[in-house]
Amino acid sequence: MATQIESLGSEFDRKSALKAFDDSKSGVKGLVEAGVTKIPPIFLHPLHNATASVKSTTGETSPEPPVIPTVDLQGIDGDPDLRHQVIGQVRDACRRCGFFQVINHRIPSLLLDKIIQGVKDFHEQETEVRKGFYTRDFANKTVTYNCNFDFYQSPAANWRDTISCVTAPRPPNPQELPPACGEIMVDYSNQVMGLARKLFELVSAALGLDPNYLNNIGCSEGLMLLGHYYPACPEPDLTMGTSSHTDSSFLTVLLQDQIGGLQVFCDDKWVDVKPTTNALVINIGDMLQLISNDEFKSSQHRVLAKSIGPRVSVACFFRQQLHPENSRVYGPIKELISDGNPPVFRETTVKEFVDHYYAKGLNGISAVEQFRV
Ligand code: OGA
Ligand code: NI
Repeated sequence: MATQIESLGSEFDRKSALKAFDDSKSGVKGLVEAGVTKIPPIFLHPLHNATASVKSTTGETSPEPPVIPTVDLQGIDGDPDLRHQVIGQVRDACRRCGFFQVINHRIPSLLLDKIIQGVKDFHEQETEVRKGFYTRDFANKTVTYNCNFDFYQSPAANWRDTISCVTAPRPPNPQELPPACGEIMVDYSNQVMGLARKLFELVSAALGLDPNYLNNIGCSEGLMLLGHYYPACPEPDLTMGTSSHTDSSFLTVLLQDQIGGLQVFCDDKWVDVKPTTNALVINIGDMLQLISNDEFKSSQHRVLAKSIGPRVSVACFFRQQLHPENSRVYGPIKELISDGNPPVFRETTVKEFVDHYYAKGLNGISAVEQFRV
C-alpha cells in the first residue's frame, strides 16, 4: 500500500515537473543555456545499455553486405540495366531492415548545409523569439516548436527540441514561417519532394508494381519537415536523444550532420548509421510496411544522447496530412495479395493510424502492430 501511495506521489511530481518545464517554453536548449550540470529527473531513462552490441556499418572484413547499404542514384534515368540493379539494391535493403543511404541524389550540397544551418539558427536565436513558436497544437498550427511531440505520453523525456512544419500538400502561409529558417525549409522541402517521387518509383518497382503506383495512391503527397536539435548533454548515459521508435510515415528522408548517434535495430543488433557527407538516409515507415503487407520493414531506430553537440538533423516525413476531409483508406496493396500471401494488416486511414501513433508515444512498440489481423 505504502509503495502505491509513493508511486502515486511520484507520478504527481512527474506531471507537475513536466508541466513546469513545458511552461518555460524554452526547451532542452533553455536548460543548457541555464548551465545545468545534471539532467532533470523527467529526462532519466532506464539503463539502455547503449554501447552493447553495436556493429559498424562498413564491415570491410565481412563477406556480408553492409547492414545500411549505400545506393548510388547516378545515371539511373538513362540506363535501364543500372536502374534494374539499383531497384534490386533497394528491394534488398527494404526487406532486410528498411534503411539505406542515397548518394548522387541531385540535391545540391549547399542546400543541405543551408537547411542544417537554418535549423541550428532557429534553435540558437534569442529565447524570447523562440518561445513565440512554442506550442503543442499540431492540429491547428502549420509550424510547431517544442520539446518532444510525445512529452506527456512517453515514460521518459528525450534530450531534444524540434521545430516542425507541414509543407505539403498545402504550402505554408509565409507569414506563419519563422524568419530564422522558413525560407530554407520551403526550398529544401521542394527539393526533397522531387527526390521522394523518384524514390517512390524505385520502391514501387522493388515491390513488383508499376513505377507510378505509390505516387498515384498519394504516398508522396504530404510532407512534414522536422528540424531536430540535440544539445550537448552533461549526462548522456542517463537519457536518450530519441527513444527507440518506428516512423509513422510511408517513407522518411533524413539528413544528419557529422556528430553521429543514430542507430537502427537490425539483425538483432543496434547498428550505427554513420554520418556520410552529402548522403541522405532513407527509411521505410509504418504505413509502407502496412501497405506492402510486411514485405518491407519499418525498423526501430533511436538517437543516443552525446556529450558533444549540438547535433542537428532534418527528417522529412512523407505521409498524408490529417485534415478531417482526408478519409483515404490504406490497406495491404491488392496486387501483392494472393492465396499464399493473405493480408496481415487491416485497412486504416492515415488519421486513425497517426492518432494511435501519437496517443501511444515512443514506447518501443511499433504502431503498426495495432493493425495486424
Ligand atoms: C525521426 C528520427 C533521427 C535523427 O525524426 O523520426 O528518427 O537522426 N530522427 O534525428
Ligand atoms: Ni524516426
